[in-house]
Amino acid sequence: MTAATRGRFITLEGPEGSGKSTAARHLGDWLRGRGLEVVVTAEPGGTRLGEEIRRLVLHARSISDDLDPRADALLFAAGRAQHVAKRIGPALESGQWVVCARYLDSSLAYQGAGYGLDLDQVRQLQAFATHGLMPDLTILLDLPVEVGLARKRKDVWNRFEDTESVAFFDRVRTAYLDLAAADPNRFRVVDASGSVDEADAAIREVVTPLLGAG
Ligand code: TYD
Repeated sequence: MTAATRGRFITLEGPEGSGKSTAARHLGDWLRGRGLEVVVTAEPGGTRLGEEIRRLVLHARSISDDLDPRADALLFAAGRAQHVAKRIGPALESGQWVVCARYLDSSLAYQGAGYGLDLDQVRQLQAFATHGLMPDLTILLDLPVEVGLARKRKDVWNRFEDTESVAFFDRVRTAYLDLAAADPNRFRVVDASGSVDEADAAIREVVTPLLGAG
């Protein structure tokens, strides 16, 4: 398979309530409307193993209440490895585009900045888990922490939303903005504090250069 026929890999990142899953779905539909085959997926999840890990790290209170940060980072990384090997990688190789809500930058922001793990070590873990697969484009949906948290539904217990402090989420947001500033070739920052339509339009604008770019 030549580089020209490989699909493009777009990730959406951002703090809680930034609208990543809705944005990913809308972006997928828009790209399909332009004749592309698109896989829309999300982390943690995307495979059966990923869904099991999601349940453990987010919703199994007896486990996630007492999770060591390194164990936490390894669990997210294990789900990511399976996702890349079984779903994202094969889709890209077959020429499909992949739109993924959250990917390795989530681990840098949450396990690194949020829980204080060494950023370089978390980065090395991502390189191992993903076999070095980096997104072609990462869209950071940025908004104030309080605005995002107020948008979240409170139906199912979630370790992050129900136990972490505003200070934790502030570290996450700052880390994302730092990551974006450090890698302007890969990142585009989009204001996610407005309406869904506004975010969708801004996302299309930053994705458009990828279309027809080989
Ligand atoms: P989810 O319900 O998918 O939230 P969102 O809609 O905001 O994406 O929960 C995912 C949670 O998992 C979120 O709080 C961030 C956290 N997370 C990490 O800590 N590390 C990671 O590598 C990933 C992918 C997610």
